[in-house]
Amino acid sequence: MSIAARNIGSQAGIAIVRMTEHDLLEVVEIEEQSGLSRWGWAAYYAELQSGNPNLMLIAVPRQAAIIEHRRIAGYIVARETAGELHINNVAVRGSYRRRGIGRALLESIIQEARRLSVTTAFLEVRSGNLAAQKLYEESGFKAIAQRSNYYSDPAEDAVVMSLVLMQKPA
Ligand SMILES: CC(C)(COP(=O)(O)OP(=O)(O)OC[C@H]1O[C@@H](n2cnc3c(N)ncnc32)[C@H](O)[C@@H]1OP(=O)(O)O)[C@@H](O)C(=O)NCCC(=O)NCCS
Repeated sequence: MSIAARNIGSQAGIAIVRMTEHDLLEVVEIEEQSGLSRWGWAAYYAELQSGNPNLMLIAVPRQAAIIEHRRIAGYIVARETAGELHINNVAVRGSYRRRGIGRALLESIIQEARRLSVTTAFLEVRSGNLAAQKLYEESGFKAIAQRSNYYSDPAEDAVVMSLVLMQKPA
């Protein structure tokens, strides 16, 4: 059953569904407004073509009026490789923050990772991005390493965080 049908991340007022090609302009807009390292339309499109569609999710408010074709409150993009999940991007539109949408997106992707028998989830976050680090810590992620000058514009260290989902078989 698809994520859209299961609606795995649903919470009051929000549906978490698969991202499609039609969502990419809005996804890129949210990316640009969120200060993330730039992927841009082409990279998201390529990921949609080659990645697992259940690991590219958007949060859609159920009741909000669609204003100027905008309907997406946030999104998350991850990739599964050899039993590991790499969370590449997560962002919530400024006007929708602190309503539990980031947490719902993260929990949805973790739920999907468990379904895929992922053993460990990883992500990198700017060392100064305490809001995101708090969100990840609340979902069980722990800081495991620091990468010097990992980011540019502006230069900043990355904190590598991981969440063990399943013990590897001996
Ligand atoms: C990080 C981000 C995705 C969080 O999204 P969100 O929908 O606002 O997060 P939630 O409402 O689900 O918050 C869940 C918890 O995270 C923590 N948190 C989120 N934003 C926070 C902030 N600005 N300051 C402190 N803690 C924060 C809180 O513990 C919060 O729980 P609470 O609201 O009950 O206190 C959002 O701030 C964002 O898009 N930031 C810009 C992009 C970004 O930094 N992405 C991460 C890149 S690694």
